[in-house]
Amino acid sequence: MASADNYFITTPIFYVNDVPHIGHAYTEVAADVLARWNRQNGKDAWLLTGTDEHGQKILRTSVANGVSPKEWADRLVAEAWKPLLETIDIANDDFIRTTDERHEVAVQKFLQHLKDTGFIYSGEYEGYYCVGCEEYKQPTDLLDGGEDFPGDKVCAIHTRPVEILKESNYFFRMSDFQQKLLDLYESQPDFIQPESVRNEIISFVKRGLDDLSISRASFDWGVKIPWDDSHVVYVWFDALLNYVTATGWGQDDAEFEKRWPAIHIVGKDIARFHAVIWPAMLMAAGLQPPRRVFGHGWLLVGGEKMSKSKLTGIAPHQITDVFGSDAFRFYFMSAISFGQDGSFSWEDLSARYQSELANGFGNLGSRVVAMISRYFDDTVPGANEMNDADAVIVDTVARAFQGANAAIDKLAIHDAIASIWTIVDALNLYITEQEPWVLAKEDADRARLETVLYTAVEGLRAIAVGLSPIMPDATQKLWSALGVGEALGNLRDQHLSRAGEWGQTPAGIRTSPLDALFPRIEE
Ligand code: MSP
Repeated sequence: MASADNYFITTPIFYVNDVPHIGHAYTEVAADVLARWNRQNGKDAWLLTGTDEHGQKILRTSVANGVSPKEWADRLVAEAWKPLLETIDIANDDFIRTTDERHEVAVQKFLQHLKDTGFIYSGEYEGYYCVGCEEYKQPTDLLDGGEDFPGDKVCAIHTRPVEILKESNYFFRMSDFQQKLLDLYESQPDFIQPESVRNEIISFVKRGLDDLSISRASFDWGVKIPWDDSHVVYVWFDALLNYVTATGWGQDDAEFEKRWPAIHIVGKDIARFHAVIWPAMLMAAGLQPPRRVFGHGWLLVGGEKMSKSKLTGIAPHQITDVFGSDAFRFYFMSAISFGQDGSFSWEDLSARYQSELANGFGNLGSRVVAMISRYFDDTVPGANEMNDADAVIVDTVARAFQGANAAIDKLAIHDAIASIWTIVDALNLYITEQEPWVLAKEDADRARLETVLYTAVEGLRAIAVGLSPIMPDATQKLWSALGVGEALGNLRDQHLSRAGEWGQTPAGIRTSPLDALFPRIEE
């Protein structure tokens, strides 16, 4: 059983048939923010991400490009998927590829174990298959091909024709787990989140579960079935296992015991694989189900789910090249309620960059640091007698962190940011009302000026700590300019559960100049 301070969080592993778009980056950033937040709170947080490299979809792409599937995957991982992590500043602890030997060996071990315990049998399957989804489809999941594909049935998600497959396969006895899964959803109400995804999955499982075809004999790009090498493992069965093979299952039991179970952050389109098939697989193997499955919403472009296959894909670097990685992370985490769909537009991104980041946060930092320099020769003054206006800031800071910590426990990232942002707004108002530039004119107001600027610096200290999991780069620049690290240590070591306590910045620390955190963007 993992210890209470363990926090194992995962992203889906991404198909390497194509390069990343902002929908993929969205999942990565959300998981990274949660990992960073918990890591900063002293938890043993561990973020896993990686790539899903087997199956027909990748095989066909590689053939179309005239290389072997492994060469194709190596190229995409090196040139696109690992660089993505740099582009959006992901601090992952591991990166698993389903072609890693550690993974393939453990997948075979897991399958052999299910076979030995009677959960796998051989049978026949005939049905519609969507290669885009890498999934058999029910007739109710399909649409008519219409004008584009007359006479064909198409997948409702990919709007591409499905194929009819008839094969002798190995099957997993998933139908045995219907009641056990319903019991799990009932006894652990936060197992599937948000509520809309939970309801959909519960009604899906209530309709009854079929056994699952878990092998394919018509192509060979996959992990071989250990007792029959004319079959390879079904790509989803293979992929889901990454969450335990990366943590040492079957090879390093102590590591596995320490980490498992995980919190899975996935898009709502693949929540069903994670909340139905995956816990059933684990239960069959006598392992604990995941701690949670969170199905986030889709990024929509022009009202549709953004996707490369529909040519609405936007590459993450198109945004970060202009706005930077912090703005990317902040925008997607704050503008969309985590769990709901959200529309992306360049106009909205630009407007929020300017109003919230440049004018709201960045300008606040620059002004305060500049005033410390001008009025106090780069040395932060101490506070004197405090009045009601100062007390509002002290109170806002305390409440902001209570709210943000509670929001993160519920995975409500947007609420956590909104909570921290109350400090940005309160401090901007405070400075406007206290007019330190007026106080600076009279010697008699010196004591008041000291209190106002101390309050502003201490408020910025709190903001830097609260926003550091979201914007690691800008907050580090602010932390360095405030000079507060000398006294308090590294930014990433500041506990978010204690960051709301007032008065941590000592008087007398030395500030240094701060360049604009969010420079003006030329058209
Ligand atoms: N390989 C599988 C996952 C296996 S996990 C054991 C897969 N890969 S994927 O590359 O197609 O998608 C990965 C993730 O990207 C999914 O969580 C999916 O929901 C997410 N997104 C893809 N398009 C998206 C949007 N337009 N918006 C938000 N997320 C989207 O599925």
